Amino acid sequence: RSGVTVAPDAREAARLVAARIVAFMKEKPDAVLGLATGATMEPVYAELVAAYRAGNVSFASASTFNLDEYVGLASEHPAAYRSTMNRLLFDHVDIDKTRTHVPDGHASDPSAAAARYEAAIAATGPIDLQLLGIGRNGHIGFNEPGSPLDSRTRVVELHSSTLDANRAFFPDGRMPHFAITMGIATILQARRILLLATGPAKRDAVVRAHAGGFDIDCPASALSGHANVEWIVDAEAAAGL
Ligand code: GLP
Repeated sequence: RSGVTVAPDAREAARLVAARIVAFMKEKPDAVLGLATGATMEPVYAELVAAYRAGNVSFASASTFNLDEYVGLASEHPAAYRSTMNRLLFDHVDIDKTRTHVPDGHASDPSAAAARYEAAIAATGPIDLQLLGIGRNGHIGFNEPGSPLDSRTRVVELHSSTLDANRAFFPDGRMPHFAITMGIATILQARRILLLATGPAKRDAVVRAHAGGFDIDCPASALSGHANVEWIVDAEAAAGL
């Protein structure tokens, strides 16, 4: 049931992902959704808000777990994934915010917060549908190259290419170098995974993830071991396949 769907452009790819989620919510209104951030996801959330306003979807019984969060940012910081999710989706739909989860990057003990997050996923989950983006270096969540297949939610140090890719979100130049992320094993526990990749900057990562088998230098290659993954990519990101 795994495969690659190629859309003509980024907008159509985001529409397809949103349509998959809307259809899924009709089937399972109390779904546990795994959510992702990143510029790639912004049009997906815009589509979901539009679908909600049109009466085509409800999140009233859903729970959500985001993949990751920066360490050390207040949750109100505009670049924190908690505030980003509120701004892009949660503030505009009928979701019960007490059932939306983002790792607590501001905890005094981030490693303990990571362990609590893993336990919360285990208690509420499994995640029914996990949305994923992909980093230019093949990362998923903030699982950078070198992340083991059996990794769980933990504190990680961001690679320089990831810092460069996300610098624009920190106009004051003060960017966290650490994050809490679901591990690769945590992600692979989801029943179904949708990965969205758009634009030429993702081309190499998409090719490497499809080379066959798990390559520790390309975390997204771990998805080859999952039975229900759909890659939705635009023509630019798919060009090397
Ligand atoms: C970020 C996030 C990932 C995201 C990826 C791609 O750093 N932690 O969850 O999928 O990198 O981001 P973008 O969509 O902005 O290219």
